[in-house]
This record gives sequence, C-alpha cells and structure tokens, in this order.
Amino acid sequence: MRIILCGFGVVGQSLVKLFVSRSEDLYAKYGLKPRVVGVFDSKGSAVDQSGLDLEKLILVKKEFGTVKNYAKTKNNYSGLDMIKNIDADVLIETTASNYKDAEPGMTHITNAMKSGMHVISVNKGPLALAFPSLMELATYNQVMFKFSGTVGGGTPILDYAKNSLKGERITSFAGILNGTTNYILTNMANGLSFDAALNDAKSKGYVEADESLDLDGLDAAAKLVILANWVMDMKVTMPDIKCTGIRKVTTENIKNAAKKKCAVKLIASCNKELEVSPKEISVDDPLCVNGTLNAIAFTSEHSGTQTIIGKGAGGMETASSILRDLLDIRQEIART
Ligand code: HSE
Repeated sequence: MRIILCGFGVVGQSLVKLFVSRSEDLYAKYGLKPRVVGVFDSKGSAVDQSGLDLEKLILVKKEFGTVKNYAKTKNNYSGLDMIKNIDADVLIETTASNYKDAEPGMTHITNAMKSGMHVISVNKGPLALAFPSLMELATYNQVMFKFSGTVGGGTPILDYAKNSLKGERITSFAGILNGTTNYILTNMANGLSFDAALNDAKSKGYVEADESLDLDGLDAAAKLVILANWVMDMKVTMPDIKCTGIRKVTTENIKNAAKKKCAVKLIASCNKELEVSPKEISVDDPLCVNGTLNAIAFTSEHSGTQTIIGKGAGGMETASSILRDLLDIRQEIART
C-alpha cells in the first residue's frame, strides 16, 4: 500500500519505526506491505515512488533533524506537491492541530480525497472545524476517512462507541479527554500550585507548543466535536461547544472538592448540551482517573454505563491507532 506521510514528528517517526519492526508479521498476518512513497517535515521532503528505505529515513532524521538529506538531489515538495505529483493509495496526516483555519492539514486532506486517496488523520484541526463536510467529501469521492487516533491516542474510544456498542443507543457520555490538564489537576490535588504544576507538565514535555490548546480546553473541545459527530450523529463543529479551561481552577476549589470526597476534573460532556468545563466528580467514580490518563463513560439505553480508561497520547500509542486504521482500510479494499 503506497503511503504519503504528512509530518515527521514524534507520531510520524513512531509509525515508521512500527512499520520496520512489524514488517514481517504485518505481511504474514494481514497482507499489509506499507510503502512510504513520500514524507515531509518542516524543513524538506523525501520522495521515492518505489518506496523509501524506512531505516535510512529514521537515521537521516536523527542525524540532520530533517528528511530532506535523504537523497543527494534534495527536493522541497510540500504536502500539496506530493499529492499532485506522486501516486499513492493513502494519505496519513500528522501535522499539528490548528483550530483557527485547520491548515495545512485541511489542504492535505481535501486534496487527497479529491485525488481519490483514502485518508487517515491524527490531526484534529480539520475534523474539529469541518467534520460534517469532510465526511461528505469522503463519501462523494468514494474514499475511506479514518481518525481513530484523534480521540484517546492509542485507546480505541471511537471504535468502542461505534462498533462494540453497535445497535445500542448511546444517550450521553462524559470524559477526561486531555491528559495534560488531568496531570496538572492531579498535581494540584497533591499540593502544587497551578504554576508549579504547569511548569512540571512542561518539563515532562506534556504541554502542547501552544499551551492554550490544553489549558483553555480547546484540545478537549476538538475531541468532543469528533465524538459528537461520530458517535451521536450530531453535525457540530468547534463553535458549538461551550468551553471553559482550567486556568481559573484554584487550590481552594480543589481542597473544597476533596472535603466532599470529590476531585476537580476537566470534563467533556455530551448530555443536553456539548460542554467542556472543570467539574467536581466523586473520587469513587471510575471516570476519576489521575495523571495523564484519559477516561470516558458511555451511557446507553440498554447496556448501562461503561467506562474506558487508557493513555490518551504518546508517539507509539498514537502510531498504533494509525496502524489500526490502515489495517481497516486494507481489509475493506480486500473485501471489495
Ligand atoms: N495535548 C493532548 C493531551 C495530546 O494532553 O491529551 C493528545 O491529544
């Protein structure tokens, strides 16, 4: 399967490492032979229509900080150049999420679909701003559009709701969908000030380059948009979410909650309305997970409430979700 990889940060590199380490069993078990024909990062690109040498690609990135030194004749293809000039079956979009105009991911995804490529995105920006129209565009162009890694990283939250609860009617859900703010709130409950907890989270590399995405709830809101569309068939985008982040949560709020055997958590919920805001929840609630963990509780008409807990971020974890999507596409193609 020929792949164009947009972005070669932690997730992109983890995916390529996964392709290398799993190449034999991916072929033997699933008939999947991933052939990366083009990849680019912020400084340049590497292209080979017959398939890039993935081990070399990793080494070049490590040594030079970019893939552009992969070949002697350097090229500077943008994502759009690649989509227009290289034959591929699947586009994997891993550039950074942007909630202002969703670029450059939006251009990559829409052009790939129009060119007849299936698309896998772990970039949340385009989905958060235009989920309904992207689904229409995929249908119109008869391509598959997968995005497992956008919610819950490697934890298959979207698949659980859509496939494991097939036939059920999910009536509401609530979750902790942002690991960074959960880590900060957990440390505040352990006695740190907001600033100290934020600095600690930064030193561990958890906080997004634009800290507002975590702290002001935008990342959680984007995931809520994706869930609401995918699981509840709501046609919503970011402006439909009532969103409050954690900047105003004080140690006083957290202490008061603790007296009631509760913890303050940034909860993304879909009940009567779509909302992200700090809320007190019982420490005995399965949803009340600590550290960087994510958790989500789905309540359904007949099967009650179930809570899924797992890591919501991480390069290898998110790469594993891309692999799941790729296998789904492979199996779907084989069936038709
Ligand atoms: N900033 C996000 C988080 C990364 O902390 O959960 C994963 O989307």
